[in-house]
Amino acid sequence: MNQTVLDAFNEQINEELYSAYLYLAMSSYFHSFNLPGAAHWMFVQYKEELQHAEKFIHFILERGPAYKLKEIKEPTNHWPSPLDAFKAALTHEKHITQCINNLVELTLREKDFSSMQFLQWFVDEQVEEEANASKIIDDIERIGNDSKGLYFIDKELGNRPNMEPSSEAEAN
Ligand code: FEO
Repeated sequence: MNQTVLDAFNEQINEELYSAYLYLAMSSYFHSFNLPGAAHWMFVQYKEELQHAEKFIHFILERGPAYKLKEIKEPTNHWPSPLDAFKAALTHEKHITQCINNLVELTLREKDFSSMQFLQWFVDEQVEEEANASKIIDDIERIGNDSKGLYFIDKELGNRPNMEPSSEAEAN
């Protein structure tokens, strides 16, 4: 793995760990709003982001000497409303999509085709990540100020299945 690609992959580990941090902060925010379903949804998302970071870590260890960790910045901890928190999640996922697209471009430029192949999983995953946040935003916008509607959305968000332990990341 050449140094340019390795540096960029290390950077992406930090992006994924920051994503985990952000969703963990959102989980706490939803608890403070007494929306346990949304808090659970965000906690599952937090664990999913840890697995994304682990995928990069395992890939680097297969090909390079070692990964390098950097400081994780403090996430925002408060949003004006639950809707704003999910909008912030979507904005963040669009940023991550851009990061992944930049990595694909870099690996193509560097002719690192196995790294490019590895990134394909993330290209597909980002479509899902953005779609998930968009759907929840649409649902919340549709109910407007109906607190009963928000109660039912929260119940549905609480049904999100938990992540399996990170064996999947290790297998990749
Ligand atoms: Fe790892 Fe939500 O992007």
